[in-house]
Order: sequence, then structure tokens, then C-alpha cells
Amino acid sequence: MTILNKQTKTPQHVAIIMDGNGRWAEKRGKHRVFGHKHGVKALRKAITFATENKIGALTVFAFSSENWQRPKQEVKMLMELFFSVLGSEVKKLHKHGIKLKIIGELTGFSSRLQKKVLEAEKLTENNQGLILNVAANYGGRWDITQATRTLLERVENGTLKASQVDETMMQDALTLSKIPQVDLMIRTGGEHRISNFLLWQLAYAELYFTDTLWPDFDASDFQFALDVFSGKERRFGQTSEQVRDLD
Ligand code: IPE
Ligand code: IPE
Ligand code: MG
Repeated sequence: MTILNKQTKTPQHVAIIMDGNGRWAEKRGKHRVFGHKHGVKALRKAITFATENKIGALTVFAFSSENWQRPKQEVKMLMELFFSVLGSEVKKLHKHGIKLKIIGELTGFSSRLQKKVLEAEKLTENNQGLILNVAANYGGRWDITQATRTLLERVENGTLKASQVDETMMQDALTLSKIPQVDLMIRTGGEHRISNFLLWQLAYAELYFTDTLWPDFDASDFQFALDVFSGKERRFGQTSEQVRDLD
């Protein structure tokens, strides 16, 4: 394999922090929720792009553990939007062979929303197309904590020894256990931070930040991020020479 081949490879797992909805709406003199609604449209486009470009898994940040601290009205509107979008989109996702998974602390949601989430996951669980993970009430620290708790429970009931715990076991206990590590993380909206998104899974991801606000993010922006990604040499701790020798 030539260097070019390796570098033009499509990422298998893309994660997106969909940021900038509020500012997008405010710039137009509208309420923040107007931006969230347009954010859903941008998400549809991103899903179509990911499917067409044979990306294996797409993980998007929809609502963080910290977003509960927003004004009550915005949180309420976001929950309603989440509920109605789940209702209106799931059949379409299913038709396109997409496997939907909601990652995060589900118990934080109303029982009606939890039920809707479980139904949506059940409907699409055997699909073989794009794996779409929507992170809702998700925090990277929460994920690592719940994984640790799962392993500690096994130690407590005697089925696991502390000395047996290794990285593979931790990986298996995390919410995205079956999915490869993130290759490319995109954040829109201009901030250069992770905001408690996937922490473990981003360990060796290429990070791409853009000032484009999420509702404006389209197929050409996504393609540009992939182009930047394909120009990177991923060394995983090795030297450039070693990486080239492997090709
Ligand atoms: C991201 O957009 C969506 C959520 C966090 C739910 P924001 O709502 O954070 O938009 P800005 O960053 O305030 O513009
Ligand atoms: C991160 O965006 C969470 C989501 C996109 C859902 P925020 O807008 O909440 O992030 P901070 O607070 O600016 O870091
Ligand atoms: Mg924001």
C-alpha cells in the first residue's frame, strides 16, 4: 500500500460536536430553539453524507450531561424536539438500514422518552448499514465512571479479579464497546474544546474544528473535513519512517 492510499482512507468512525445552533438563531433575531430545529436538518444531511461515503459509524453529541444547566425553557424545548424527531425520523432511518443507538444516562429522561428510545433502538437493531449513535445526557466522565462501576460490581461479586482489569475490559464496559475508536472528531461553532464528549474513544482521533455554525454545516463542509483527515499521517506513537515502512 502506498502512503497515498493510507492517507486517502475514509474514517471508519466519525464523531461530531454539533455546536452553534443558538448563535445561528440569535444572528437571525430568533429564539435559540429555532437554531436547534435547523440543527436537525443539518444532522439529516450529515447522516446522508455518512451513508453515501461508507463511513461505518457516526456518533453525534446532541445533549450533554452539563446541558441540564441551561434555562428550563430551552431544556424543555430540546426534550420535546428530541421526542418528536425520534418519532418522525426512525422509520426513515430504518428504511435506509441505519442502526440507531442512544448513548447516555437514559434514566435522566422522562419515561415516555425512554420508551421511545428503546422502541427506536429495537426497530433498527439488526440493521447492517451506518451505525448512528446519538449522545444524549452523555458525558465522557459519566461513561468512564459507569464502566468502572460495572467492573467493580464484578469484582465485588467475585467473578473478576482487580488484577485482570485491562484496557480491553474497560473498552468493553464503555457505551461504544463494539465500535472502533473515533478516527475523526469534528466540532462546529468555533470552540476548540471537547466539552466532556467521548474522552476514552478520542484518545487518538484527528481533531477538526470549524467556525461554521452547525445549522450551516453541509455535505461540502463534511467533505472538506474528510479531505483534511485524509492528508494526515496517523503515527500512533511511531515515527514517520516506521509508518511509511508499514505501507
Ligand atoms: C449545540 O448548540 C446544541 C446543544 C448543545 C443542544 P448550542 O445550543 O450550544 O449553540 P451555541 O453554542 O449557544 O451557539
Ligand atoms: C457541547 O456544546 C454539547 C453539544 C453540542 C450537545 P456546548 O455548547 O454545551 O458546549 P460548551 O458548554 O460551550 O463547552
Ligand atoms: Mg454551544
